[in-house]
Amino acid sequence: MKDSKITISVIKSDIGSYVGHNLVHPELIKLAKEELEKAKKRKEIIDYFVFNCGDDLELVITHKGPEEDPKIHRLAWNVFTDCTKKAKELKLYGAGQDMLKDSFSGNIKGMGPGVAEISFEERPSEPIVILAADKTEPGAWNYPLFKIFADPFTNPGLIISPEMNEGFTFEVHDVLESKKIKFKCPEDMYDLLAFIGTPGRYVIKCITRNHDNLLCAVTSTTRLSLIAGKYVGKDDPVCIIRAQHGLPDIGEITEPFAQPYLVEGWNRGSHAGPFMPVSLEQAVPTRFDGPPRVVALGFIIQKGNLIGPLDLFKDVSFDRARQKANEIADYMRMHGPFQPHRLPESDMEYTSLPKIKEKVKDRWKEV
Ligand code: F6R
Ligand code: MG
Ligand code: MG
Repeated sequence: MKDSKITISVIKSDIGSYVGHNLVHPELIKLAKEELEKAKKRKEIIDYFVFNCGDDLELVITHKGPEEDPKIHRLAWNVFTDCTKKAKELKLYGAGQDMLKDSFSGNIKGMGPGVAEISFEERPSEPIVILAADKTEPGAWNYPLFKIFADPFTNPGLIISPEMNEGFTFEVHDVLESKKIKFKCPEDMYDLLAFIGTPGRYVIKCITRNHDNLLCAVTSTTRLSLIAGKYVGKDDPVCIIRAQHGLPDIGEITEPFAQPYLVEGWNRGSHAGPFMPVSLEQAVPTRFDGPPRVVALGFIIQKGNLIGPLDLFKDVSFDRARQKANEIADYMRMHGPFQPHRLPESDMEYTSLPKIKEKVKDRWKEV
C-alpha cells in the first residue's frame, strides 16, 4: 500500500443495549473509546471515533493498513468482546447479540459485526459522510445511493460538474446467492433499478466515478440471519461516502433523506416503516422499537485524522422529515399485523413465525 494511502474502517455491532433493543449503554461507549485510545497511543491506528445509532455500537477507525486488515478486524473484535463482557456484567439486554462466532479467525466479516471500508489517497481536502442506521437492513441504502449518484433531480452536479457528468458505476451484490454485478449509469440505469428495487436481496456494495474509476461510496452488506440461520436482529447497516469537488456535495448526499421513504425492519425486524433522519441525540428508537433511524456524520480526513463530526441531520430543515415520518408511522401502525405494514411471508422466514405455523400445521384440512 502506498505511503500516502489511508483506510477508513467503520465496524459496527449490536452487543447489548438497554432497556430493550433501544440504546447502547454509555459504559460500553466509554469502554470502546478507552480501548481505541490505547490502540492510538500504541500507533496501531491513526484515529478513531465511537458513536451509536440506537442499539448499535459504531467504531470509526482510520489506519495505514489495507481494507480487511486482520490487525484492525482483530482490534474491533476485541473491543466488541470486551464490551460484551461489560454488557453481561450489567445484564444489558441481548448482550453479545451480533457476536455470532466464538473465536476470531482473521476477518470480522461473516462473524456478525457489519463492516464498510474504503482506502484512498487523501485529496487536498477530503470530506466524507458516514451513514449509520438502526432497525433496518443493508438494502436501505439502495434508494438514497441511487438518488445521490444517478438522479439529476436530487444531484444537480450530475448535470453541472464535468467529473460527475460522466456518471457512476454501481456494484450490486445478490446477498442470497453471493454474486455480484456492475451497472454503469446513466446507460444501465433501468437495469440497475430492476434489481435494487428489491433491497432485501440486491444491495449496492460500492460506487465508482466513471471519469477516473475513483471509489466514492461503500456499504456494509452483512445479512445476520443468513449467517445464523434464524432471526438475530436486523443488520443495521453503515455506509461511507466521499464528498465534494467532483463528487456529490454534502447537500446532495443529505437531500434524499428529506423524504422519509419506507424501509423494512422496525419491530421484530418484521415491519415496513419510515426511515427517520435524526441527530445523534435523537437516535433513540423506542416507539414500536423504532421507527427505523438514520444518522449522518460529516468528517474531514486530515492525514488520516478525523476532524469532526458534524451531525448533519441536526439541521432544523430535517424537522419536517421527522414530522412526516411520525405521521407515516401512525398510518403504518394502523394496519397492525396486516401487510404491507407487516412484511410478506417470504421475509418472515427468519423470524419465529415458522414456529407458530408449525404449531397449527395438523389442523389444516383439504378444501
Ligand atoms: C428489531 C428489534 C426488536 C426486537 C424486539 C423483540 O430489530 O431488535 O424490535 O425484535 O424487541 O426482541 P426479543 O425477541 O429479544 O424480546
Ligand atoms: Mg438489539
Ligand atoms: Mg440495531
